Amino acid sequence: MSVIPALGLGTFRVAPDITTQSVRTALELGYRHIDTAVHYENEAAVGAGIRESGVNRDEICVTTKVWFDSLRHRAVLDSLEASRERLGVGVIDVALVHWPSVDGVPVAETIGAMREAVDAGLIRHYGVSNFTGPLLDEAVGVPGGDAIVTNQIEVNPFFANRADVDATHRHGLKVTAYMPLGEGRVQRDPVIAAIAERHGVDAPQIACAWLLARGMLVITASRSVEHQRANLRALDVRLSDDELASIDALDCGARNANPPFAPWNRT
Ligand SMILES: NC(=O)c1ccc[n+]([C@@H]2O[C@H](COP(=O)([O-])OP(=O)(O)OC[C@H]3O[C@@H](n4cnc5c(N)ncnc54)[C@H](OP(=O)(O)O)[C@@H]3O)[C@@H](O)[C@H]2O)c1
Repeated sequence: MSVIPALGLGTFRVAPDITTQSVRTALELGYRHIDTAVHYENEAAVGAGIRESGVNRDEICVTTKVWFDSLRHRAVLDSLEASRERLGVGVIDVALVHWPSVDGVPVAETIGAMREAVDAGLIRHYGVSNFTGPLLDEAVGVPGGDAIVTNQIEVNPFFANRADVDATHRHGLKVTAYMPLGEGRVQRDPVIAAIAERHGVDAPQIACAWLLARGMLVITASRSVEHQRANLRALDVRLSDDELASIDALDCGARNANPPFAPWNRT
């Protein structure tokens, strides 16, 4: 079983004051994975939401991420220590390398620091994010690379990201799919709408159910309790082979998370 629960709550672009209540309501509804990052500037608010929820800390998986300006050995440890203090919920369950290095920091150095952070009791598990197949091949090959638990990457019906998904699965690792709704495109698509109507749910739950059926973990962000509750229904949707195939066919390579520092934008 994965150390990360199948369906989690994201907090990207959620302001700190909203984050606390969003995390609290999600946990009350039954979510058990909360995803944040140094870069989101809401870790303290995530921690407050966890404490306010009253849910037993041991039941919750908290993921945070180290930004790409902090991938040197000492910087990783300092970043994780600062995240732990801001979160205020004890040991961090999963720490991810948010993006591969932009300035040539060897991945062995970063992964080595992650391994040390486990030994020091700062974090329980570590992984990577936005790693392409070749970068992942390199990361799993360095000392400590065999303990990587996930590659968190963008995947949705319009961006199936097959090369990176397949590379991650080839290593026996879990993909954690982010931006599962394709920045709102899922809610506008007639194929997904028809499937959703058949299952008595909304389009977002069909996109999440498709990702789950394809063996991935999913994180969605929502400030709305109604949307949070609705998205949990994805766990109960069973798509037929035909429905899965018709969603597979929507892939058109429409990537959303595409910053200039992404590895696929570098020459
Ligand atoms: N590793 C990375 O580089 C990376 C990059 C991007 C994201 N992430 C992580 O992945 C998480 C998810 O990605 P995301 O936040 O970009 O996108 P998302 O979850 O695909 O979409 C969030 C948006 O969808 C809306 N929404 C959610 N459920 C809905 C529903 N049932 N009906 C209608 N609208 C709904 C939300 O609005 P409401 O608030 O109104 O519900 C929000 O505007 C992030 O929060 C973050 O934790 C990681």
